[in-house]
Amino acid sequence: MDKSLITVTSPLLPDLDDFHAMLKEIWAGKWITNNGSFHKRLEKELAAYLKVPFISLFTNGTLPLITALQALRITGEVITTPYSFVATTHALWWNGITPVFVDIDPSTGNMDPDKIEAAITPRTTAIMPVHVYGKPCDTVRIQEIADKYGLKVIYDAAHAFGVEVNGESILNAGDMSTLSFHATKVYNTIEGGALVMHDEQTKKRIDYLKNFALPMR
Ligand SMILES: Cc1ncc(COP(=O)(O)O)c(C=O)c1O
Repeated sequence: MDKSLITVTSPLLPDLDDFHAMLKEIWAGKWITNNGSFHKRLEKELAAYLKVPFISLFTNGTLPLITALQALRITGEVITTPYSFVATTHALWWNGITPVFVDIDPSTGNMDPDKIEAAITPRTTAIMPVHVYGKPCDTVRIQEIADKYGLKVIYDAAHAFGVEVNGESILNAGDMSTLSFHATKVYNTIEGGALVMHDEQTKKRIDYLKNFALPMR
């Protein structure tokens, strides 16, 4: 590698021999698509490590955002933040939802809860904040506002792998949270992502629809 190159980040990679041994197992089993044994093991071990009840794996961190919106049947307008990777807004736009931007608190980089209520209209159905750089949003305030107006909350937690507040995983806040396992993230699968949900019924529904590629609505 060119030593004069200053990289923004460098991915954590496993020992190549360990990785090769796992590949050998996959080659032997010839199960290289949905729900193989490594897939199931990763879901189980990640859920335990992240202290969340249920998790569903995806091929990146954008698809769980799109899927969460569909699974919760979100329509109309969604309040989100302009300070994020473009996938947050793309997921709304690709679902035919109008993104409504609420400015950030400059001290955290996260959506400013004081500005949310002014952005709510009769068409608002959800709030989609981002835990920017893994710094937790004010989930208590956001939930209070969501409950007051009957809104769903989906957290884009792409940067928030393993983040806890008072011993509780930040991924348990809101209705669902999404993760990215892209090579630039704290934990990576080269490309990958996940959706975190609170109940088994929702996990079953998402896994079924995801694997059989049926429309979610
Ligand atoms: C805040 C945020 N949301 C969503 C994504 C999308 O994740 P992916 O690139 O894995 O699709 C990213 C990726 O950088 C991100 O930073």
